[in-house]
Amino acid sequence: MHLLNPDAVHPIMLPDGSVFTETVQLKNAIDHPCMEIGAFSYFTHSGKVEETASILAPYLYPFSRDTIKIGKFVQIARGSFFITSSANHPMAGFSTYPFRSFNLAETGGYPDLPFKDTIIGNDVWLGHNVTVMPGVTIGDGAIIAAGSVVTRDIAPYAIAGGNPAGVIRMRFEPNIVSRLLEIAWWNWPAEEIEQHFEILERADLSELEQLA
Ligand SMILES: CC(C)(COP(=O)(O)OP(=O)(O)OC[C@H]1O[C@@H](n2cnc3c(N)ncnc32)[C@H](O)[C@@H]1OP(=O)(O)O)[C@@H](O)C(=O)NCCC(=O)NCCS
Repeated sequence: MHLLNPDAVHPIMLPDGSVFTETVQLKNAIDHPCMEIGAFSYFTHSGKVEETASILAPYLYPFSRDTIKIGKFVQIARGSFFITSSANHPMAGFSTYPFRSFNLAETGGYPDLPFKDTIIGNDVWLGHNVTVMPGVTIGDGAIIAAGSVVTRDIAPYAIAGGNPAGVIRMRFEPNIVSRLLEIAWWNWPAEEIEQHFEILERADLSELEQLA
């Protein structure tokens, strides 16, 4: 069965054969020097396709020093976005007003403000309206509950939620999580993933081991 199209900008096809244009395969829609995105990761939003990067990371500029790395098969629901270090105003002085930003050519901006990279693993699901704060790492297979604000790292295969987001529960036992991280199915060839997607939908490690 054909499910994955690495070249599509809009990867979801509706039952009548039309394309659902609000879901965007990020790799094919974003060309941003500070963003690295893996295959098959998608985001749903109602803006124009060319606005995808600025909706997802509104304060990440082409000249920013921080980066966002998003793995493969990441699912990002509507309303979710990343606040990057480049969003910060200077905080050590009496005023947070970003005076230098109004003449970047002459002032050079705020090169001393600390910056942190944001890393989202593979097969991560960000629910509706999730905010990811600067410098966070979200591990492979994690789920972030709707409306959460992620301020600290989230372990692989955790379900986390709230503001600040804390672990609600782990999805699997530690020995299964370690094995899933070793197997890293997201690195298999797309045809193999398509062929065995029903095994990935279930949670029977012995079945998965036969493919690994
Ligand atoms: C995270 C989620 C997957 C958990 O589902 P679940 O395992 O069925 O969760 P439950 O309803 O059994 O709740 C488990 C606990 O998590 C808490 N919780 C659930 N959703 C939460 C949220 N959004 N924020 C904070 N806590 C949440 C519950 O209060 C409950 O806590 P308790 O055990 O102290 O009572 C689900 O709540 C969610 O947020 N899904 C996202 C859906 C979405 O945004 N879809 C967008 C389109 S892709």
